[in-house]
Amino acid sequence: MNEFLCFAHRGASGHEPENTLSAVETAITLGADWIEIDVYLVEKELVVFHDQRLERTTNGTGPIMEQSLEYIRSLDAGNGESIPILREVLDLVNHRAGINIELKGFGTADETVSLIHEYTTKKNWMYEEFLISSFNHHELARVKYLDPLIMTGALVVGIPIDYARFAEGLGAYSVHCNLDFINEAFVQDAHERGLKVFVFTVNNRHDLARMKALSVDGIFTNNPEIVTSRLKP
Ligand code: G3P
Ligand code: MG
Repeated sequence: MNEFLCFAHRGASGHEPENTLSAVETAITLGADWIEIDVYLVEKELVVFHDQRLERTTNGTGPIMEQSLEYIRSLDAGNGESIPILREVLDLVNHRAGINIELKGFGTADETVSLIHEYTTKKNWMYEEFLISSFNHHELARVKYLDPLIMTGALVVGIPIDYARFAEGLGAYSVHCNLDFINEAFVQDAHERGLKVFVFTVNNRHDLARMKALSVDGIFTNNPEIVTSRLKP
C-alpha cells in the first residue's frame, strides 16, 4: 500500500501561530511528512503569510503586499513570533520534511523557482523536497514553463466539470481538493490520470477515516498528530 502523507497546514497551526517558525518546528516534531506554508512577494522577498491583510494574525494593519518588508518583519505574528521569510523556513526544515509552498501573491512563481534553483544547485536540496501549489493555475503554468522538473499541485475548491483533467493539462503532480467537495468520482479520475490527491483541511479523526476510505493520498491538517499519533514532548 502507498504511504499516506501528512501535510502540516500552515505548519502545526493547531498548536502554534500559523505560518511561523514555531509552527514549522512543531510540525516536524509531530512527524509531518510535508510542511505547507503560504507565500507573498514583498520587495522581491518571499514572505510566509496566509491572508491578504495583516489584521487577523498580527498586530499590524493593511494589505501585506502594500507594506515595506521592514514593517512586516517588525510585527508580532503571535506569541512573539515574526512573519518568516521563505528562506528561513527552508533553513529550519533542513531536509527534515518536504516543503509545500502555496503561491498566494501575484508574481510569486518566478522568485520561488529562483529560490528552489539556489537550494538545489548550491545547498544540496532535491527537487523531490519541494511541491509548489496554488489556486492560481496561471502561476503553476509559469512554474512549469520556468522549470518542468518542479512538482506542482493544483488547488481546487469544488469539483470541476472535467474532474482532474485541468491538472493533467498543467503537468501537475497532484490535485489538492477541499474536504467539503471531495468525492469518489474525483479521486478515481485523478488517479486514472496518474495524479495524487491531497485533501484540505482535515482536523479530526472522523474526517481522516472518511478520507482514507476514499483512498486519497494524504491530507492537510492543523493537527499532524491525528495522522502520526506522535505527541509533543
Ligand atoms: O494548500 C492547502 C490549503 O492551505 C489551501 O487553502 O486557504 O488554507 O491556503 P488555504
Ligand atoms: Mg495554504
